Amino acid sequence: MLANKKIAVVYRSGSGFTKEYATWLSQELHCELLPGKTTKVSDLLKYDTIIYGGGLYAIGINGFDLIKKNYEQLKCKELIVFAVGASPVREATIQAVRDVNIPEEMRSHIQFYYLRGGFNYKKLSPLNKVLMQIKKIQLKKMKNSDADAKGMLESYDHPLDFTNKKNLRPILESLGQSYE
Ligand SMILES: Cc1cc2nc3c(=O)[nH]c(=O)nc-3n(C[C@H](O)[C@H](O)[C@H](O)COP(=O)(O)O)c2cc1C
Repeated sequence: MLANKKIAVVYRSGSGFTKEYATWLSQELHCELLPGKTTKVSDLLKYDTIIYGGGLYAIGINGFDLIKKNYEQLKCKELIVFAVGASPVREATIQAVRDVNIPEEMRSHIQFYYLRGGFNYKKLSPLNKVLMQIKKIQLKKMKNSDADAKGMLESYDHPLDFTNKKNLRPILESLGQSYE
């Protein structure tokens, strides 16, 4: 708990990267860690600050409807959202993810962050494995593939992990918590 604020970190994670960031955050903030899959809006009402983290799937934040669909009940809270994707951290990516996921009327109230996660093909669900096999065919067909596409192709055989506790610094600082 920070300055007597009741904080909860809620997360949805398909292959573990968001869960790692969410766990680190809850440890740093000494607060509750809730799996989004089994969390209902009624569970969130007792907190002052809700931090929601979700992996990015086709630019959508996994499980973010928990916040978006219940915004009327939650808008009196401090709301922080972080998306975790495999893409490098670039301003254009961050803006696109924010604009696609967070309706305009919520943007002034929801603090948004993008954190780089990773990619681990072996940990994907069967459906996501199929989707990523289709993506692999597309990547292989690309004539002028850039460094991102080449890196993506390599990651099918060699998992990538860009998670780093230091990436949480802006979120922690926004809550008045310094991070060494
Ligand atoms: C089907 C599929 C779609 C994905 N779409 C995106 C995407 O749009 N942008 C991105 O940066 N990463 C994308 N990724 C990569 C994941 O966001 C990345 O692996 C992330 O770290 C997953 O976090 P999680 O394990 O917590 O779910 C995608 C992965 C899969 C399997």
